[in-house]
Amino acid sequence: MNDTIVVYRSKYGSTDIYAKWIGEALGCRVSEIRNLKKRDLERYKIIIYGGGIHAGGIRGWDVMQKWLKLDLMADYYKSKEGTKSTNPKDEQSKKVMVFAVGIGEKTEENLKQLRDVNLYKKWQTHIPCYIFSGAYRPEKVKGIDGFIMKMMVKFLRDKGLNMSREERILIDRVKDGCDLINKDEISALVEDYKNLI
Ligand SMILES: Cc1cc2nc3c(=O)[nH]c(=O)nc-3n(C[C@H](O)[C@H](O)[C@H](O)COP(=O)(O)O)c2cc1C
Repeated sequence: MNDTIVVYRSKYGSTDIYAKWIGEALGCRVSEIRNLKKRDLERYKIIIYGGGIHAGGIRGWDVMQKWLKLDLMADYYKSKEGTKSTNPKDEQSKKVMVFAVGIGEKTEENLKQLRDVNLYKKWQTHIPCYIFSGAYRPEKVKGIDGFIMKMMVKFLRDKGLNMSREERILIDRVKDGCDLINKDEISALVEDYKNLI
């Protein structure tokens, strides 16, 4: 387990809670991405990255993708599928899992959308990706974040009768606030991790 690290970015605290639960379950190091430098990841073989969902994106994932040079890993995954790789960097390749924390309904469609927005196409089937239920406290969301949420709610409301059930639920959660954080949600990731090592 010493070659695994959970790295995360949490603005409002939900991802921080999940990251620490995962770290406890796996007995591995946990660190906020802002407390790390790229070179700190060198010694780890498995990186579990988590971030709050922000207008479809996963916070901090852009930085992590650059650090991991995901392009260099293409041959590693090819070799896993049976094609022998000639990339000398394979030895250093890392396995990656991603979790995103949000307040939308956890549907297959939302997970697909999350993958489409955040992962290069070639990684979508190779990097396990999970959505965990987060929290939203309207009184804490200010400035640009408050503006984005206002626009999102307006965009959804403008759909009128075309609004889906999931979109109505999302509007209520933003309007009334919610706390959906639940430790049980990490179990799928923890199980998959065991199969990965
Ligand atoms: C500006 C903003 C945009 C958000 N966009 C989404 C979104 O697209 N989908 C979603 O499920 N949740 C969205 N959320 C809700 C957050 O993902 C949720 O509050 C999460 O728990 C935040 O993680 P954190 O507490 O680790 O920062 C958004 C929240 C804010 C403030």
